[in-house]
Amino acid sequence: MTVFRAYDHRRDAAAFRALNQRTFRDSVPPGEPVDEAEFRKHHAWLLEHFAPQDPARSTVFVAEVDGQYAGHIWIGTQTDFFTRRVDPWIFDISVLPEFRRKGIARGLHDHALKHLRATRQATVGLQVMAHNDVAAKFYAKLGYKARASSLVRKV
Ligand SMILES: CC(C)(COP(=O)(O)OP(=O)(O)OC[C@H]1O[C@@H](n2cnc3c(N)ncnc32)[C@H](O)[C@@H]1OP(=O)(O)O)[C@@H](O)C(=O)NCCC(=O)NCCS
Repeated sequence: MTVFRAYDHRRDAAAFRALNQRTFRDSVPPGEPVDEAEFRKHHAWLLEHFAPQDPARSTVFVAEVDGQYAGHIWIGTQTDFFTRRVDPWIFDISVLPEFRRKGIARGLHDHALKHLRATRQATVGLQVMAHNDVAAKFYAKLGYKARASSLVRKV
């Protein structure tokens, strides 16, 4: 049985941290050099700064399959560069590999949308890395449309 529920820091912190760290590490484009120790330090800073356990900064829902941690959605906020409007922003949706393609991420997203509607939010956004084709397909399926793209080049 699959259950979608609120994040419980005492129970979920280790599983959340491990899966989120893996997703964020995989978000670094292939070929970009990474100092692994620095990356882990940075990830610890992200968790401290954006605090998944703090409802003032983050909203997290967890998916459990037969009592096992299967994935999560982590929502924070993003300030719009042009208008300074603060909108909900998906920091991470991740499902453990053994639970993928079973509708769990879609279920997490549906659960989060209900919460965002109940709290009267009008939009939700996210960033998807250019090399993450699976995530791009997933978000397209869920109705997300590109609003901008970020470009970079060597100097
Ligand atoms: C992206 C991710 C969250 C999808 O999780 P999931 O539970 O497997 O997704 P769902 O089963 O709910 O899929 C919903 C729809 O998304 C699309 N989709 C999901 N995975 C896909 C894949 N590998 N290839 C193509 N389309 C895919 C499909 O349209 C799917 O519907 P369908 O199965 O009826 O065809 C999962 O692959 C993951 O955790 N990836 C690593 C972390 C990541 O990159 N997260 C996003 C960046 S923050």
